[in-house]
Order: sequence, then C-alpha cells, then structure tokens
Amino acid sequence: MDTLLIQGGVPLSGELDISGAKNAVLPIIVASLLAEDVVMLNNIPHLRDVTTTIELLATMGAGITVDEKLSLEIDPTTINQFEVPYELVKTMRASVLVLGPLLTKYGEARVSLPGGCAIGSRPVNIHLDGLRAMGADIRVEKGFIVARAERLHGAHIYMDVVTVTGTENLLMAAVLAQGVTVLENAAREPEVNDLANFLNAMGAQIEGIGSSTLRITGVEKLTGITYTVIPDRIEAGTYLAAAAVTQGDITLRKVEPLHLESVLLKFEEAGALLDVGRDWIRLDMRNRTLKPVNIVTMPYPAFPTDMQAQFLVMNALAKGVAHVKETIFENRFMHVPELMRMGANIAIDGNIAITQGVDKLIGAQVMATDLRASASLILAGLAAEGETTINRVYHIDRGYERVEEKFNRVGALIQRLAS
Ligand code: EPU
Repeated sequence: MDTLLIQGGVPLSGELDISGAKNAVLPIIVASLLAEDVVMLNNIPHLRDVTTTIELLATMGAGITVDEKLSLEIDPTTINQFEVPYELVKTMRASVLVLGPLLTKYGEARVSLPGGCAIGSRPVNIHLDGLRAMGADIRVEKGFIVARAERLHGAHIYMDVVTVTGTENLLMAAVLAQGVTVLENAAREPEVNDLANFLNAMGAQIEGIGSSTLRITGVEKLTGITYTVIPDRIEAGTYLAAAAVTQGDITLRKVEPLHLESVLLKFEEAGALLDVGRDWIRLDMRNRTLKPVNIVTMPYPAFPTDMQAQFLVMNALAKGVAHVKETIFENRFMHVPELMRMGANIAIDGNIAITQGVDKLIGAQVMATDLRASASLILAGLAAEGETTINRVYHIDRGYERVEEKFNRVGALIQRLAS
C-alpha cells in the first residue's frame, strides 16, 4: 500500500486547474447505459472510482474507449449482463446507481447490497422504496438486491431524507418509465443537476432541475450525445483550504464558483481574502490569521459534508473555539483522532466537533480512513512542522486526481512511496 510523505510548513502558491467532478462523472457514466447509441463524455478525471465505474459497465458488456485527453466513449448497445458483483460494490458504493437504469431499460438488475462503510451505515431504502413505487418487484436474496419489472411506471414519490444517489437512481429510472414521475424532497446538489442536464440532452423530459421537486415525463428512448462534466467543487474547496492552512496564495482555474457559495462565505469568515471570476477563484491567506468558523453540514445549497474534514483542520489552527456539526453521516469524524496525534485540540460531543485552535501542528504518522478524511490529513501535513506520513492513501486516489503532482505544482513537498 502506498504512503505519502509530506514535508510541512511551505505556503502554497501558484495556479491549478480543477478536474471534472467525481460525484457527477459516476452517475453520468452509469446513465450512459440508457442511451440507444454511443455516448462521448469530456472532462473525465483520472480517479480510481472512475476506473471502477468503467469496469462496472465493461462487466455488463458495454464497449468503452478511454482517450488520453480526459474523454470517454461508451457504447451501451452490447450490454447483456445485468449483475453487479460484491467485489465492485464493496470498493465503490456508488455501484448501486446501476439499479434504476438497468431496471428501466432492461427490466432486470441484480446488484450486491452495499454494506456499511467508514462514514456511516448508509442504507439504500429510499432507492428501493422509490423503485417499488414505480412498479418494480424488489427482493433481497443472499446479499443481492434482485429487481424485476415489466416496464416501470410513473409515481409520486416523497423522499423522507434528502439523498444524492437516491435522487439520481430514481431520476434515471423515471426517464424511461411510462408516464409522469414526481420526486419530492429531491437533492439539489450540482452533481444531481448535471446528471439531469445530461439526461435531458439525451432526450429526457425533466422539469424543475435545481429545485427540490423534479417532474419527469417518461420517454421511449434516449440518444447518444457528447457531454462535458462540471468541475469538482470539493476538489476546488480542498485546494483552497490547503492554501488557507499554509497561509498561501492560490488561484484555481476551470472552476464553477456558483457551486461553492456556502463554502466561499465560510472561507471569508475564516479570514481569507477571496477574488472570484466567472471560472476562477483566488484565495490569499498571506500575513492573515485564521479565525474559527462554526459549521453545520446540510444538503446543498448549505455547507457540504464533503468539506467538513478540511474545515476542521482550518479550525484546528484558528485563534479560538469553533463548533462543527455533522448532520449527514453519523460517523464522519474518523480524522479527529488522527489530527489529535498531530497536536490538534478537538473534543467530540455526539455529532459536534469542538476545536480549540493551537499555534501549530506537528508532523506524525497518521492513517487515512476515508476519502475526505485523507484530504484533511494532507492539509494538516502541509501545515504542520516537520514530516507527516499518511498510510492507506488508496482512499485519496478514489477522489483526487494525481494528488501529489497537483499539490507539488503549487509548492507542496509531497512524495509517494510505493510499497
Ligand atoms: N440515506 C438513507 N436512506 C437512503 C439513502 C440515504 O437514510 O436510501 C441517508 C444516508 O444514510 C445519509 C443521508 O441519507 O445519512 C444522505 O446520504 P446520501 O444518500 O445523500 O449520500 P450518498 O448519495 O450515498 C453522495 C456522495 C457523497 C456525499 C453525499 C452527501 C456520491 C457518489 N457520493 O453520497 O460523497 O458525501 O452524497 O452529499 O455522489 C465523497 O465524495 O467523499 C462522498 C462520500
């Protein structure tokens, strides 16, 4: 297993291009199977989760061509397998996204049931209940979700909890269902909207994109198109946070600042100087002091859970006390004990992390536990005095493209040691 070796204490400075959004790319690759002919996708990030999703479609029989220039060609016409094995689902929970599309297009799907994961139990009851409301017969047999349907029909569905992949699964099922489906309390994350825009570009009829009520009129078929995926707002936020904790000055290009509004406001509250253009963001933290910021993670457009760990590192180095409340996942403070090994002063009270800022963090050996926790450990390592070694970095490769190469381009000193 690879490790990352970080020499801390260097302020980041320079410019970086932001990659395509992982959480938009995954459902969009999967949704390509709904088309009647070839789909061409641009701005595809080089990530382990993307490779897993490509593998997933290839296992089903799709023809896939990966281009050097971050594009992907998917030919769904040869799909003839409707099963997703445990090996794929256990490495990537988002594999469950094939359920809706397979069921609505081919009338059957057999997908291994995802277990719990490092950040919480993460059930899929809303996905399954929604598909049942659309006429699917769904059973759980020997650890697999076994689903069948003649043709799905429209339904009026209220989702009790705002769920990103749940909304996406039902959206993909509804576009080829007979009649009208209304999804209430739908997730409004930019990645959900990107999927909906992609589906509409293929010929789907989705209204209300960006709102919490989606109205979908089923169509007979969707056609292949060329589509460019949105930039990754969480990758962008992570690099901005890295500049903030190292008192650096960084400019990000190829970003969508509108997707980062709540996060940018918190950066300003934390004392950063921001300059924002149509598709770029500059954050300057030179000669400025980090201030503590209180945060409550909530569904979009509120502050994202995927930026919680990174802001915890900022708070760990800020002057004063801050409260960070995690309301999306029940176990998403796994980075806290690791940050404490580096000298952070953090107390956990239920779903609230209370930080008392310290003057500095000290490099140590730490362990990555999930994707965003890993990102926070890199940030801590960059800010810390001395050397930090991060073990189990495979988590970071799931969601950050060429992470050490990108950080090093803006002055970081990170080395990957292959084992
Ligand atoms: N939930 C249910 N029942 C369901 C579905 C969800 O109770 O059927 C609950 C979950 O347990 C959780 C809450 O609803 O408490 C929200 O979870 P959601 O379903 O929105 O999460 P997800 O779709 O599994 C996506 C992202 C996550 C991101 C969350 C929240 C993808 C592939 N994953 O997960 O991304 O944290 O939304 O925004 O889109 C990451 O990139 O590091 C990551 C974990």
